[in-house]
Amino acid sequence: MESFIFDLMESHDYENILFCQEKTLGLKAIIVIHDTTLGPAAGGIRMWPYENEADAVKDAVRLARGMTYKNAAAGLPFGGGKCVIIGDPKKDKTEGLLRVLARFIHRLGGLFLTGIDVGTTLQDMELMRMETPYVVSLPESLGGPGNSAVATAFGVFQGIRACLKEVYGSPQPQGRSVAVQGVGAVGKELVKYLVEAGALVTVADIDQEKVEALASAYEVTVASPDKIHTLDVDVYSPCAMGAALNEQTIPAFNCKIVCGSANNQLAVEHDGDLLAQRGILYAPDYIVSSGGVISGMDSLQPGGFNRQRSMETVSHIYKTMGSVIAISKEQHIPTYRAADVLAEQRITAIRQVKSLAT
Ligand code: NAI
Repeated sequence: MESFIFDLMESHDYENILFCQEKTLGLKAIIVIHDTTLGPAAGGIRMWPYENEADAVKDAVRLARGMTYKNAAAGLPFGGGKCVIIGDPKKDKTEGLLRVLARFIHRLGGLFLTGIDVGTTLQDMELMRMETPYVVSLPESLGGPGNSAVATAFGVFQGIRACLKEVYGSPQPQGRSVAVQGVGAVGKELVKYLVEAGALVTVADIDQEKVEALASAYEVTVASPDKIHTLDVDVYSPCAMGAALNEQTIPAFNCKIVCGSANNQLAVEHDGDLLAQRGILYAPDYIVSSGGVISGMDSLQPGGFNRQRSMETVSHIYKTMGSVIAISKEQHIPTYRAADVLAEQRITAIRQVKSLAT
């Protein structure tokens, strides 16, 4: 039998794909539930002008599976899912479209918990919250964590500390050189943590205004965006777009550690092997960038969101990165594979827990 969707679902054992359509409001969205072994599927809503439906489905399944691993490695009681809306967030986003999608999410009865991603904002979540409580990233005014970038940056900072401990024997950033690529929402918060800890920071961004604003407030050196990854530094921190680690860039690296927030940093998995062969310690992106999702999920605790508790949980990324390094050394595998092993070990253990009748 000719199959596209079921072959795709079988490829990594996806549980559900839900297509949501409302033609008057122009909604075309796809919700993917990858794996709910650990709990309800959690993942954000991405709005993107996909060229065709197949691209949207492929992106949704890839992102949902990524969330299974991210949530598992972060020690959260959640599985992985994702929602994509087909459309241009600048032109096609309306209150009606968001609220009707929220109703579809509500129908799932808590099987899917969601928040912001590329193309959606906290204000969008506020509108969706009118239809469902299963939206967890909310502005501070509504009792949510607000901007997730601070928590994400704090997690990356913990990842850097764990890597410094491994490479130099001490987690102290004091006197260590760090090159931060991209000083947007996450990058600029990371720079603050690093400068306050005494690191020697160099920054680059294609947006000159952002660089100037940061350089006027903090003691940082500015580099050009096409050179930042080549600097002779202890840590290179990609905090811009994906695929920063690829066949072209890796040979030009002069760092000991790569640790940043950018999603999908490895252009292809083999690039993780290239880094290991060059003796560069790579902090897998989904391990160190989970601060935002950790703080979003804190809203579901009894009594609601608590910043101090959520940042305490985010600080565990230091230990998690240490575990990834330990697995990598024990099993003689690159860190990107060790991260998957850590996530899979947890899912397997909890599947066993849940097999016992209560
Ligand atoms: P952002 O859009 O606020 O910042 C990205 C920055 O990178 C912008 O200032 C942009 O001008 C710059 N940039 C783009 N291309 C560049 C290049 N070639 N060289 C130098 N700079 C470049 O995005 P945000 O929220 O700071 O996220 C950064 C990365 O971290 C993204 O990959 C995102 O998916 C990921 N991430 C963000 C989380 C969050 O809580 N915001 C959570 C987890 C991952």
